[in-house]
Amino acid sequence: MRIFVAKDYHDMSLEAAKVVADEIAQKPGIVLGLATGETPLAMYRELIRWHREEGLDFSQVITFNLDEYIGLPPENINSYRYYMQHNFFRHINIKLKNTHLPNAMAVDVDEECREYERQIAGVGGIDLQVLGLGQNGHIGFNEPGVDFALSTHLVHLAAATIASNARFFAAESEVPRLAISLGIKSIMQAKKILLLASGSSKARAVYELVHGAVSNNTPATILKLHQDVQLVLDERVAMHISRV
Ligand code: F6R
Repeated sequence: MRIFVAKDYHDMSLEAAKVVADEIAQKPGIVLGLATGETPLAMYRELIRWHREEGLDFSQVITFNLDEYIGLPPENINSYRYYMQHNFFRHINIKLKNTHLPNAMAVDVDEECREYERQIAGVGGIDLQVLGLGQNGHIGFNEPGVDFALSTHLVHLAAATIASNARFFAAESEVPRLAISLGIKSIMQAKKILLLASGSSKARAVYELVHGAVSNNTPATILKLHQDVQLVLDERVAMHISRV
């Protein structure tokens, strides 16, 4: 596990964008696994800037997002499809047909989960998976207690995650209780993983990830078993870890 500690959120985002851009330069048809949430927003802004100012080319890039809330249609401002369109996809030259999120409106959710896995396998798997980190150590919507053997699956969101994500909704009662998420098994199959974390509220989860044992109490600790993981952190989130 390689660890890069940046001064602040801005520098963390710059470093993460550099990693993604370098990978695209090496493989223009790269398959990216992408995350939503607050953490990657400035990384997306930086990639958009490099697209505009330096011609970073997304025309062959394929993306799969980690997760989507069940029941929120793409035009709902809280759906992750909406987030991706507005914060990233519509500002770059990616082809819409190359961007994938789980279909939150699927009638048969289990079949949708299997289909999502088939689509990922059909393009040769994820080359670079970008991850954020929940305060409770979740990655994607893989909450504490999750079965590490699961691939894409239906998730009942943890109370802590509902409370935390309520900041994006008018009221906590409006946060969907169900989601589809890539499972730990799917995340671990990515060839390379880039995890971003910033802010003191996630310092405990980062400490567990770096110094703790692998345990589904803190799902991110599974990444200790992956052969190619890079953590890009800011100083506040990294304050408890030793860097010798
Ligand atoms: C988002 C996702 C989540 C977030 C995590 C951190 O697609 O899968 O695991 O990465 O909840 O969210 P923020 O960045 O908002 O703190």
